[in-house]
Amino acid sequence: MPAYEEIFRSSVSDREGFWLDAASALDWHVPPTTALDGSAPPFYRWFPDGELNVAHNALDRHVDAGHGDRTALVYDSPVTGSTRSYTYTELRDEVARFAGVLRDQGVSRGDRVVIYMPMVPEAAIAMLACARLGAIHSVVFGGFAAKELAVRIDDAGPKVVVSASCGIEGKRVIEYKPLLDKAIELADRKPDSTVILQREQATAAMGPIDVDWAGAVATATPADPVPVKSTDPLYVLYTSGTTGKPKGVVRDCGGYAVALAWSMPNIYDVGPGETIFTASDVGWVVGHSYIVYAPLLVGATTVLYEGKPVGTPDAGQFWRVVAENRVKSLFTAPTAFRAIKKEDPDGEFTKVHDISSLRYLFLAGERLDPETHRWASDLLGIPVIDHWWQTETGWPIAANPAGIELLEIKPGSPTRPMPGWDVQVLDETGAPAEPGVDGAIVAKLPLPPGAFPTLWNDDERYVSSYMAAFDGFYLTGDGGHLDDDGYVFVMGRTDDVINVAGHRLSTGGMEEVLASHADVAECAVIGVADSMKGQVPRGFVVLKSGVDSSVDGYEDTLRGELVAMVREQIGAVASLKDVAVVPALPKTRSGKILRKTMRGIADGAEEPVPSTIDDASVLDTLRPVLRKG
Ligand code: COA
Ligand code: AMP
Repeated sequence: MPAYEEIFRSSVSDREGFWLDAASALDWHVPPTTALDGSAPPFYRWFPDGELNVAHNALDRHVDAGHGDRTALVYDSPVTGSTRSYTYTELRDEVARFAGVLRDQGVSRGDRVVIYMPMVPEAAIAMLACARLGAIHSVVFGGFAAKELAVRIDDAGPKVVVSASCGIEGKRVIEYKPLLDKAIELADRKPDSTVILQREQATAAMGPIDVDWAGAVATATPADPVPVKSTDPLYVLYTSGTTGKPKGVVRDCGGYAVALAWSMPNIYDVGPGETIFTASDVGWVVGHSYIVYAPLLVGATTVLYEGKPVGTPDAGQFWRVVAENRVKSLFTAPTAFRAIKKEDPDGEFTKVHDISSLRYLFLAGERLDPETHRWASDLLGIPVIDHWWQTETGWPIAANPAGIELLEIKPGSPTRPMPGWDVQVLDETGAPAEPGVDGAIVAKLPLPPGAFPTLWNDDERYVSSYMAAFDGFYLTGDGGHLDDDGYVFVMGRTDDVINVAGHRLSTGGMEEVLASHADVAECAVIGVADSMKGQVPRGFVVLKSGVDSSVDGYEDTLRGELVAMVREQIGAVASLKDVAVVPALPKTRSGKILRKTMRGIADGAEEPVPSTIDDASVLDTLRPVLRKG
């Protein structure tokens, strides 16, 4: 097997040959003869003349090859005290039956289905059932509130919404159905029907458009896979941008399946019959790619875990799951490890469980701080691999390709670019930055397979958000540098996106909520460093003139209302707990709020006063408030 350098070079010098070769790992209804359609940059399409079905590749292909008895998916749920395991044959049959249910509800190729579910196997079954029909799923993370769900329903226009009676958050049962009903009430584009999985922890009240999952499956006729074009959308996954309107990241079928199938053996070193445990949520891209699609595409076993790293009931659950399933690669977010480290600093739980099968720990979703890296490496004595990717990219931009060769690990860096990712760092003028000098991290077009071809129904925003800043490059929105050895260092977002406990959120979206309060004249939300969650949001509001804030307890009441509004309208995951009332916000002379300066001060940096500031005394007044947080 050629080493990393050689593989990377061939992915750039013979892009089409490299990816056509990778495409042969899949079953194609119509094999592609062309790798890339680049006739309309910055829009590119992978394998334009190919046709396939992703669910067939994830399930039927392995059954047909005689591997139907292998374990496809293990559901492990400490919060309900249950585990369940599906062979490839069983999962294929469940998916085919649920595809039959969706077909009975009128879903066919190209229709959208919104999935709002907790971490139960039925979430993966619903996703794969859509893929089987050539329908487009859009999974909405269960931690989002009704309004966020409504915004996504309106944008996607689903024919059907699939949901469950409840999710379980630690010891709390969270009823989903009232949230779904509220979302449908708020949405302008109503689905024709919903399919509801009743769980024993809560029973959902059913209305005229609601169909019971179990009843429908019992009478459904299984549906066969529908071949679709490689370029057809497999899913739309909404992610936070700089405004309150989320971006509908589109994922195609063929390019994505090829990229994922390449990544499993070469990055995660997981193949048929081996087990990967991705402790994330199907509501995020990590869950789409490495809980559901990638492990199944290569015939591996995937663990779908319903619980937290700590508290359900203890900090040893990841190790228990590793031991019980002989997990080879564990993948989660650094914040989960910080939580485990806090509860079990000496790693006592690793001695309770036999974790000798574990060969790698992969971490992504936010910056991996060198201290957490060191702690996990010392504790486990295996490679701890930081890797960098985004909802937009679908798979890692930079990683340590453990299945090819393990490159030197440099704490603080997610290592080197993966095939097809021509990563560069540019300064404000668009000129390449020197090694070691921070700038905007970009990737030269075309992006490799798997990366998003556009935004749902919004080619214009695709171009303006990502492709317009530097001609011929994708703007990642992350800042950082390359070192002399070509290692990538990702230092943080250059926009108003923040990362709270591995959840990507928009400060702009939170500002829109705060600004809607009757007493608020203007506001700013910034992400500040947090030792557990990586970042947490902090809000600053200026009151409208005339508001009488001298009333006893006024500020506490207002704070409570604002925190509740964000929780109610965005969701508990926003974790906005701290809002300060301030006399004014620091601005440039053109009226732009100096959020970056505020963030620097809150993080304890010696932030210089920007030359563009309108009134430096505003910043002086704010400095102690920012530092106090
Ligand atoms: N449904 C409903 N509510 C949810 C939810 C869901 N799916 N997920 C989170 N929430 C709620 C939580 O209950 C919590 O509510 P609270 O404020 O009432 O306590 C709030 O949202 C914040 O949740 P979270 O940020 O997850 O904090 P936490 O304290 O509950 O847990 C961690 C902290 C570190 C254990 C947890 O965030 C974690 O496991 N993070 C990893 C995230 C991840 O995997 N990201 C994917 C990228 S790989
Ligand atoms: P999401 O789209 O939710 O996957 O979030 C993507 C963002 O998370 C990136 O733009 C980065 O800001 C951040 N991120 C993900 N992985 C890493 C990493 N390994 N190091 C630093 N930041 C990361």
